Amino acid sequence: MQQQPKHQQHDVIIIGAGAAGLMCAISAGQRQRGVLVLDHARKAGNKIMVSGGGRCNFTNYYVEPNRYLSRNPHFCKSALSRYTQWDFIALVDKHGLPYHEKEEGQLFSDNKSKAILDMMLQEVADAGARLRLKTDVQQITPLPDTAAPYRYQLTVEQNGLKETLHCQSLVIASGGLSMPTMGASGFGYQVAEQFGLTVLPRSAALVPFTLQPEEKELTEPLSGLSTPALLSCEPAKGSKNDKGKPREGMSFNGSLLFTHRGLSGPAVLQISSYWQSGDTLEIDLIPGLDLNEHLKELRQTRPKAELKTILGEHLPARLAKALCEHWFDNTTISELSNVKIEEIANKVHRWQPKISGTEGYRTAEVTLGGIDTDELSSKTMEAKKAPGLYFIGEVVDVSGHLGGFNFQWAWSSGWVAGEVV
Ligand code: FDA
Repeated sequence: MQQQPKHQQHDVIIIGAGAAGLMCAISAGQRQRGVLVLDHARKAGNKIMVSGGGRCNFTNYYVEPNRYLSRNPHFCKSALSRYTQWDFIALVDKHGLPYHEKEEGQLFSDNKSKAILDMMLQEVADAGARLRLKTDVQQITPLPDTAAPYRYQLTVEQNGLKETLHCQSLVIASGGLSMPTMGASGFGYQVAEQFGLTVLPRSAALVPFTLQPEEKELTEPLSGLSTPALLSCEPAKGSKNDKGKPREGMSFNGSLLFTHRGLSGPAVLQISSYWQSGDTLEIDLIPGLDLNEHLKELRQTRPKAELKTILGEHLPARLAKALCEHWFDNTTISELSNVKIEEIANKVHRWQPKISGTEGYRTAEVTLGGIDTDELSSKTMEAKKAPGLYFIGEVVDVSGHLGGFNFQWAWSSGWVAGEVV
């Protein structure tokens, strides 16, 4: 009589039922692999649910490697080119889900984000993959060669019951550190360290800035107001990147939103991924206009116009009024000397708000840094030092710009791993 194993055996175990883990389950399941997805949260895909302001910005028409930050900017190319935005759009189309382009290629669901999550869960079920929630993974142990083809043993606990699982391939899809209230944990980094993989420093990215108290007099009453702006980040003098080269500056055009704590909005979130403590953030509040020239011209043509009125023609009225209360005197244009006009133009085009920091992982959309891509195969996402162990999604040192790029990385990296696990 054949002896029953004391433990459950699985072809593939995926830890993390987020965007990357679900996609990996679909692609592995479609290859007839026996897949079990484990998650400690009560529900799968929490971040998909809250994404895109409730309408999941699931990908972008213009996915390019230069929309990603990573110590190795080439690493993401292989996965992104093998499971593309068009593949994900085809999946959305197959399910008949309506969507729209918001701006710059950003694709949002017309329905609530739940539609995208339901689609993923349907695909997971159709691929025959199983999902187990509220399950803690307590220990991962490599198995001896004698246990082949099984390579990893997991000790898991669900509802107080401990269990041992064996798998041939183990995929870590546990995401980054942002939004711990949604199930985020440092689990993936700990597993990487356990197997001797380098984990690069992490920080909160796509995150609002907080301002020093002296700036808040201007900004706090403006909370909720947004305006188009050009934001630039000038690296601190002498600051170097992790390859020892001088860091480069970065600029983003987009909406700037004033908040109770400081600054947010798409342009702020984008630049936050490049900003480090000590860097200078510069904001052009009226990009595309030469205010210096404009005011000098108006001094001839509309000398009696008030500064507040002129600024209000290019800025929201509340902001123009606030600037004339906190930064400038609201005089008529005729009263402004050349020097004064230059001062005004300089402040409006080159505002350098005093930043105290960011709101951190509590509100960040992603985590910058993570598992060093040098440790992984860019084709399969398998760890070079630990055969059969894979890392996908946000836990890896690949972070996208705002606009659907992070989900596309999760889909692409999940899919390519699923093709080989
Ligand atoms: P993800 O975080 O999605 O999943 C990880 C899973 O692992 C979770 O289910 C978690 O519970 C589980 N887990 C963690 N630790 C575990 C442990 N110890 N044991 C078991 N399970 C564990 N991107 C985008 O492209 N478009 C958008 O519209 C948005 N919008 C957005 C809004 C908000 C509020 C946030 C916070 C983020 C976004 N993002 C986004 C970013 C996007 O959500 C993110 O990049 C992906 O969800 C990353 O997918 P992963 O599967 O790698 O991690």
